[in-house]
Amino acid sequence: MHIFLDTANIEQIRQAARLGIVSGVTTNPSLVSNEGMADYEAVVKEICSIIPGPVSAEVLGTKAQAMIEQAHQITRWAPNVAIKIPATADGLEATSALSKDGIKVNFTLCFSLNQALLAALAGATYVSPFVGRLDDIGHDGMALVTDIVDVYKRYGLPTQVIAASIRHPQHCVAAAKAGAHIATVPYAVLMQMIRHPLTEIGITRFLADWKRVSPA
Ligand code: E4P
Repeated sequence: MHIFLDTANIEQIRQAARLGIVSGVTTNPSLVSNEGMADYEAVVKEICSIIPGPVSAEVLGTKAQAMIEQAHQITRWAPNVAIKIPATADGLEATSALSKDGIKVNFTLCFSLNQALLAALAGATYVSPFVGRLDDIGHDGMALVTDIVDVYKRYGLPTQVIAASIRHPQHCVAAAKAGAHIATVPYAVLMQMIRHPLTEIGITRFLADWKRVSPA
């Protein structure tokens, strides 16, 4: 399973990039506005220059034609940009058109297997089931990831599943077990993935033992 970073924070992206394990970034309008950055184009271009893998940028139009026009505009910003299109009928129409033009679409705000199936039929490169938001309303978000992975496998559909709206490290474990191709994680969760108290205790103990026997 690949790891994408789910943020528009440039400093976090730089720090995570140094770890050498981040192969893409997902942003959305909320994440960009959280950073208080007005120039969307500049932000996306900068992220694309830090991370060579796919960087998802979301369209803001709600009608298919507006989405298509904005997507074409965004793809001119950087060669590694992917376009986030919401899971609506207009989004589906835009996804079909953009996929035919060879543009990578990340079909986002996906909350059902039917939406994911249609995304794949429209030629989306990625589909993003929002695990945390489903959990928030008492559904089983990861069960949707499992279902999408199984159905795509059964029908040989090449769309990659991005487990999104990840809230904690156990979501990453479950996404990997479910067979998600990618998990897109907030920076804090990425840091939680590497940390383990027994690793910290082990290092402290090794260093203390080494000091006891090493000459002063
Ligand atoms: C993914 O592409 C989305 O940007 C993100 O995972 C949404 O997460 P949230 O539900 O925590 O806002």
